[in-house]
Amino acid sequence: MTQKWWQDAVVYQVYPKSFQDSNGDGIGDLQGVIQKLDYLQDLGIRIIWLSPVYASPMDDNGYDISDYRAIAAEFGTMADMEELLTEAKMRGMEILMDLVINHSSDEHAWFQESRQNRTNSKHDWYIWCDPREDGTEPNNLRSIFGGSCWEFDEARGQYYFHSFSKKQPDLNWENPEVRKALYDMINWWLEKGIAGFRVDAITFIKKNDHYADVVPDAPDGTAVVKPNNPGIGEFLMELKQETFDRYDALTVAEAPGVPLEQMPEFVGEEGYFSMLIEFDHVDLDIDESGRWYRLQDWNLLDFKRAIAGSQEMINRIGWSALYLENHDQPRSLNKFIPEADHGVRTAKLLAVTYFLLRGTPFIYQGQELGMTNVSYTSIEDYNDLSTIDQYQAAVREGIAEEEAFALVARRSRDNSRTPMQWSEEQHGGFSSGHPWLAANPNYAIINAEQAVSDEASIFHFYKQLTALRRASPYKEILVHGTFEHVNEHHPYVFSYKRILRGKVVMVICSFSAKSEKLKLPHNPVVRIIGNDEKTEAEGRKITLKPYEAVVFECE
Ligand code: GLC
Ligand code: CA
Repeated sequence: MTQKWWQDAVVYQVYPKSFQDSNGDGIGDLQGVIQKLDYLQDLGIRIIWLSPVYASPMDDNGYDISDYRAIAAEFGTMADMEELLTEAKMRGMEILMDLVINHSSDEHAWFQESRQNRTNSKHDWYIWCDPREDGTEPNNLRSIFGGSCWEFDEARGQYYFHSFSKKQPDLNWENPEVRKALYDMINWWLEKGIAGFRVDAITFIKKNDHYADVVPDAPDGTAVVKPNNPGIGEFLMELKQETFDRYDALTVAEAPGVPLEQMPEFVGEEGYFSMLIEFDHVDLDIDESGRWYRLQDWNLLDFKRAIAGSQEMINRIGWSALYLENHDQPRSLNKFIPEADHGVRTAKLLAVTYFLLRGTPFIYQGQELGMTNVSYTSIEDYNDLSTIDQYQAAVREGIAEEEAFALVARRSRDNSRTPMQWSEEQHGGFSSGHPWLAANPNYAIINAEQAVSDEASIFHFYKQLTALRRASPYKEILVHGTFEHVNEHHPYVFSYKRILRGKVVMVICSFSAKSEKLKLPHNPVVRIIGNDEKTEAEGRKITLKPYEAVVFECE
């Protein structure tokens, strides 16, 4: 594929509400992000993805936008946003905004008008439907955050459709006026000099069969709403042509429901987006219905298969967004490593595992410190609306309260939304006030101040990995090389090659708590990086220590 400026970049995701509070109100803000730009620059970050900072009633922490052209008061002002853009650019960094256009907030002026009556000028800007004869919802679709996808509105005497919460009504993409208004807004932001967008829940924009009952996936007779319906391509192509293409914008699509075969259409040379956020490798522990309390068994072979499947496709067609964590996922140490083995070594293992794949690596705030899930003791301690819904649904399905709590706590989105741990000071140095969500008490040990001062820290390891991809003799191969899975049937070791013009780099990651012997397909010649002092190797035979990760140049 043609080379792009963002291919050797590393993206850092900031969840503004939890990153840094500059004025003591307990809520992170844009000035807080500005204060930490030097930290991000030091880490080697080239692109900052900001989760939504637009005006919002914050039902879903900003993923419910009430004004696309204004900044949420608790986060700052448009002047702060412009200052952030300038300050970032001065440090060689670009800003990626979050683009939430499947839905708006119910408090957006468009929806306020749309709900008035059936004749106003925005009457079909959202998806309205008459009740069934008995007055109930048009069908049995369940929203991602629980309950029906349909909410009754008194004034219109109709139901409106929402894929997520009832405060996130879905926009009607079939209406050309809606699309035009969104494109204008997108171009307005691109004019301001942002590099592009992470495009939220974009595969939900096309609704098909949204008015008929579907086969239930839950005891209550409901079925969760499904993304990526036929016909979506027309909208996505138009979106790209009317906006992103004109600015050569970087676009990272959150695209659940896109099968491997369809990846060329989404991210191939002429695809709709620059890269995709995939789900298979992070959602191995939950089933299709998206219920967190129905935990699924999985093992490393499943993880390897998910990654390799996507990488083999990416080899041929384009580019991938590489990640283990984000604001919707629990912390990666908790997901991938048994608790007794959490630590610097295993966090570095996870870093190597995904950072040297083919694509652009994303680091979620705090991942570079090895932040872990939080152990709250009561459901009241949680803020995330989805966590509360999942808990209630589990109890409704007959799971005992204590067990429901434990199951849901494992998966809660608040695990990754606790305040960023900057120092050992109160609330981890996040805020001088009372944080909106309680900090993880392990900030006493796990914090940025400690990590930056310790050369052997996870932070410095990420910094080295970033440097390897940005400026090192291995840069070309690590960025542009193809992926080849090695030892694909090994149950405890994930290993792969990167190959470019006859050169080979081998990445070897052991997820075993014991030592593992392995035979390599090539002779290792130079040890590039690893999470152990030294790797035991003899010719092609190596003995990996527990949780060892090592990268070799081979011949
Ligand atoms: C995406 C976001 C998530 C949000 C949802 C609805 O999945 O990542 O945080 O709740 O879309 O906008
Ligand atoms: Ca604040």
